[in-house]
Amino acid sequence: MTSDKRFITALFFLSLISFVMKKIVVSAPGKIHLSGEHAVVYGKPAVVVSTSKRMYVTLETSNSPAKNDDSQVVLSNLRRKDAYINEILKIIETKYKIPLSDSLLITINSDIVRSCGMGSSAALAVALIGAVLLYIGQPWNRQIINELAFQAEKFKHGNASGSDPTIVTHGGLLWYRKELDFLKTFWLLPFKIPKNFAPFLLINTGRVENTGELVKAVRKRKELDKPGFTSLITRIEEVTRGMTGAIHDEDEIDFRDSIQENERLLEQLGVVSISVKQLVRKIESIGGVAKISGAGGIKSGSGVVLAVHEDPKVLMDISQKFNFPYFQAIFGGEGVKIEQIVT
Ligand code: MEV
Repeated sequence: MTSDKRFITALFFLSLISFVMKKIVVSAPGKIHLSGEHAVVYGKPAVVVSTSKRMYVTLETSNSPAKNDDSQVVLSNLRRKDAYINEILKIIETKYKIPLSDSLLITINSDIVRSCGMGSSAALAVALIGAVLLYIGQPWNRQIINELAFQAEKFKHGNASGSDPTIVTHGGLLWYRKELDFLKTFWLLPFKIPKNFAPFLLINTGRVENTGELVKAVRKRKELDKPGFTSLITRIEEVTRGMTGAIHDEDEIDFRDSIQENERLLEQLGVVSISVKQLVRKIESIGGVAKISGAGGIKSGSGVVLAVHEDPKVLMDISQKFNFPYFQAIFGGEGVKIEQIVT
């Protein structure tokens, strides 16, 4: 078959599918890097957990009943406005050689805070890819969703490790390592953060830089002092191992020590701002521990801070004093999920 004929056949099947499928809803969770962020870009392991906060992507054919919903956008408009979404859709169109209908309606709802290290861009890629693959009649395949989302992450952040799309796709507690761009290994750990550990509070310190800029800043740090950088990420690897062992062995003291040391190492990597260092020292001064999670931030805030103390109320008071909003989330949320298909 010539490529023109293939294109026309694809268009024919696509219009057939869109006639059959009226609505698809797919969701994906946000994540928290417990340890290993940044070092994971250089081949070291990371341990990452999914959260109960989720992103929901709804696709509807234009012949489905109109909704009185401002968040619903026609695909062609969204593609023009949002380069990241456009790239995600281009990745799918290129792989499956199928053009997506411009009149498809899309709604994105999320309770994952954006640009704060909680994986909202990975959740968007994963949920959107999952929804579009169903729409074009592909089987539900997490491995493919993750691989395509990894391509989208590389477009957005440059040198991405792939840990974000992997945790968002699979959910749970993840041990992740990128050996090479085409060789990524991971284990979904068959245990959870013990229920008897003190509760976490997530403090949103905001940030101005994006993940790509922060990953670049760390690369500069590496170029300035290679031996110092190597010993830092080697120590981060040891802490990641120690933390994972502590979760497995239900050893809360070791777990907390790992959080504290991980934070110090991230500070030495240069991805924690002055105000966030002050917040963390304050939490430590009252017997708690805290660390940034994800890419961090230098100029203003450093994204979401994971804080632990027996009495979350004291953490709430400190966050308020620093003028940072806080929230709680359950760890270990389900990975990418089909919420609804209406035919
Ligand atoms: C960002 O959520 C985590 C980083 O390690 C980047 C990456 O792994 O791609 C900073």
